[in-house]
Amino acid sequence: MMTEAFNSFYSTDDIIKLVNKSFISLGYIENKILIGYAGLLEMYSNITCELHPLIIKSEYRNMMVGSKLLKELEREAKLKNVLNIMLGSDDEDYKTNLHQFNFNNTDMSYILNNIKNINNHPYEFYQKNGYKIVGIFPNANGIGKPDIWLWKQLIDI
Ligand SMILES: CC(C)(COP(=O)(O)OP(=O)(O)OC[C@H]1O[C@@H](n2cnc3c(N)ncnc32)[C@H](O)[C@@H]1OP(=O)(O)O)[C@@H](O)C(=O)NCCC(=O)NCCS
Repeated sequence: MMTEAFNSFYSTDDIIKLVNKSFISLGYIENKILIGYAGLLEMYSNITCELHPLIIKSEYRNMMVGSKLLKELEREAKLKNVLNIMLGSDDEDYKTNLHQFNFNNTDMSYILNNIKNINNHPYEFYQKNGYKIVGIFPNANGIGKPDIWLWKQLIDI
């Protein structure tokens, strides 16, 4: 699932390390098959955690499995007093219009207000689940390949 979704190879060891270092780790199992996985990594003393990864087996996507898994992860996180979840959602394949902006001479608020989803970039999935774009890291993965940072506050203050 990881290799298919993220365009890079993950060994069994990589996956075990990732799961072991997670603060919260949840699988979504249907008919004894793992069809989704979500993990929260420690950040800022667990007041904030990083969501990585969230992944649904391709044939089960767009069936609200990701939303349900994320909701359950957030519920568990709240019980452990996590205040914020953040994540970076890379755009390495020009799925948004962000590669068209010159970040050096364009106001960031203009860019944030004019982001467009060209080819099913998951940032919109997160927005639908209450996450806000709080920043863009230009060229994070190479020229024209930014990382979109999203955030959600779990507890009303
Ligand atoms: C992103 C991902 C976790 C979403 O899970 P999912 O189960 O397919 O999503 P859901 O069915 O819960 O979708 C909820 C809503 O988000 C929308 N949505 C889901 N994926 C989307 C995408 N890639 N682009 C735009 N909208 C998307 C759905 O259309 C749905 O909208 P609606 O309520 O208006 O109908 C899943 O597609 C996935 O595993 N992708 C590959 C790995 C990945 O990119 N993970 C995120 C890395 S940051």
